[in-house]
Amino acid sequence: MAVRTELAPLEGITTWLFRRTHARMFGGADRYFTPFFSPAAEHILTKKELRDLAPEQNAGVPTVPQVMTRRAEDFLWAAERMAELGYGEVNLNLGCPSGTVTAKGKGAGFLLRPDELDAFLDAVFSRVCLPVSVKTRIGYRDTAELPRLLEIFRRYPICELIVHPRLREEFYRGPVHLDAFAQALADSPVPVAYNGDLKKPEDVSDILRRFPAVSGVMIGRGAAADPALPRRLRGGPAAGREELQTFTRTLYDGYRSAYGSAGPAAQRMKELWFYLIERFDGGEKYAKKMRRVKAPEEYERLESGIFQELPLRRDA
Ligand SMILES: Cc1cc2nc3c(=O)[nH]c(=O)nc-3n(C[C@H](O)[C@H](O)[C@H](O)COP(=O)(O)O)c2cc1C
Repeated sequence: MAVRTELAPLEGITTWLFRRTHARMFGGADRYFTPFFSPAAEHILTKKELRDLAPEQNAGVPTVPQVMTRRAEDFLWAAERMAELGYGEVNLNLGCPSGTVTAKGKGAGFLLRPDELDAFLDAVFSRVCLPVSVKTRIGYRDTAELPRLLEIFRRYPICELIVHPRLREEFYRGPVHLDAFAQALADSPVPVAYNGDLKKPEDVSDILRRFPAVSGVMIGRGAAADPALPRRLRGGPAAGREELQTFTRTLYDGYRSAYGSAGPAAQRMKELWFYLIERFDGGEKYAKKMRRVKAPEEYERLESGIFQELPLRRDA
């Protein structure tokens, strides 16, 4: 399928190490979006942010850093820092549904303040030094909010509008609103990409059949569950069990040396396994145990057990 494929940001999962290891082992994604960072008023990048964004960590991986803020001066500062680090685009997060974020009017919370969003985009686009893409939901609590939001987005030279067709109040559950996505795509002067619930190559073909004008598809949980999905979209093979095991071992070893200890590495891996376990037949019993993992030895035992005992699902 000749469509631009973008790996969605998944906080806690698609770290620099995940993105780099994924790009080297599986490939197939045209771009990798970082989980968001929220610029502090003091305009400094924290150690943790720098670890994720440092060019040497992302070498060879087409990476788009994502910023979440409602202050234009903070966004402009972040864009300048990203340009200095060598990035060619910066992405604005208008989708995060988390209560702590939306209470501050950021992420999907910004969608409730359309006039302020308009003024923000006006200030950003009058001075920004990099192309800006926007990742958005279709509203906060009602799809009736969408036309006003689209009217705003269409006034600015957004390099790509990535639409996750759910409301903030739906978080990541329930059916997507494809009719709202159609509205976003119709007569859009800016490229519009689709994001949401793409788990198999057929899900992507369905979207492309219904919306041939999309500029790309963005895949999140589907790629955490099946890291070979972007490759499969290009006609490449499904992931084999050895390949998956090399992937998880590479990540675990990489986290252990980055964190200097196995405990936090096992916690990181647990978050990935929440999705990856779906690739295995009969994974439910392991999924429960994995969610409760505390000690790294326990993690290692479970990981070995999964690869020894469980067959890969046939549709993988
Ligand atoms: C655990 C988790 C973390 C996420 N972190 C981010 C994030 O940092 N930035 C962002 O724009 N979206 C984030 N998202 C949303 C995803 O990028 C994506 O929009 C959403 O999962 C729907 O796409 P999917 O069905 O392909 O996963 C996150 C979602 C999940 C489940």
